[in-house]
Amino acid sequence: MLVEKTAVSYKIENRIAWLYFDRPEKRNCMNPTLNREMMEALDELEYSEDVGVVILTGKGTAWSAGMDLKEYFRETEAQGLKGVRKSQRESYGWFRRLRWFNKPTIAMVNGWCFGGGFGPLFACDLAISADEAQYGLSEINWGILPGGGVTKVVADLLSMRDAMWLTLTGELIDGKQASAMRLVNESVPADQLEARTREVAELLLKKNPVALKFAKDAVRRVGLMQYDEAEDYLVRMQEAANFHDKTEGRKEGIRQFIDEKSYKPGLGAYDLQKAAKKG
Ligand code: COA
Repeated sequence: MLVEKTAVSYKIENRIAWLYFDRPEKRNCMNPTLNREMMEALDELEYSEDVGVVILTGKGTAWSAGMDLKEYFRETEAQGLKGVRKSQRESYGWFRRLRWFNKPTIAMVNGWCFGGGFGPLFACDLAISADEAQYGLSEINWGILPGGGVTKVVADLLSMRDAMWLTLTGELIDGKQASAMRLVNESVPADQLEARTREVAELLLKKNPVALKFAKDAVRRVGLMQYDEAEDYLVRMQEAANFHDKTEGRKEGIRQFIDEKSYKPGLGAYDLQKAAKKG
């Protein structure tokens, strides 16, 4: 299934949604149209039964060259505060939606990734980069601080020295350096990028989808909590997950290991299909 909007497109193949920044002629920089269409696409994909994982990537040579300096900044500023706030709501809105998306998400960084692009990069749960991709906080080069959450992204993900280096120098790093800094999970040569990302997506497709959603939210939430709050939160969230999981996956996972002896949790996931047949 292929859906093509103006600046965004997606295809769904074998329960994987490949979601594209699709303005290659503008290096996939984010204008208000792209921001609105991303929100629409996320709406269409989030609860679709055909989708188990979303991979966010870019058409052409860029992942995303950040916010569109002309249409996102200059043209909305010309409309006054009302225009600025509206375009901020639209971009921050889909970044937030992606951070808390109901399915696991993977950023597949194929090329340029600048400034505002760090927002959706952080919003994706996992990130696989091409060695050849180039990352930079170019804001300082055109005279602003990295806004739109970007400074928070680097402060959360990177060491203070690395965050400060990128922020103050605007110098580029490649995929291998991004992986060494832990901005992404791993980096592979460009010709292996799609295959490796698909492999990771397929790994996630084998897991209990309710457990994936609760687990990914937990990782983002507990970082802000004290230990006792986190402990309590995780107990409540597992109880909520038990309620939402109509396949009773937790019991099934124990059954397939202890009674059926058909898999080992230390070595892989239980068989979701058997659980679905029972449920
Ligand atoms: N905002 C607005 N337009 C942008 C853009 C951005 N962030 N990034 C690229 N474009 C446009 C260019 O103006 C150009 O438009 P044109 O064909 O109408 O002249 C087109 O996209 C292609 O860009 P170009 O610079 O010719 O491509 P390149 O491959 O030589 O260089 C980049 C790619 C990403 C290095 C370069 O485009 C760039 O520095 N972009 C800005 C990055 C940035 O600072 N982003 C903002 C972060 S908040």
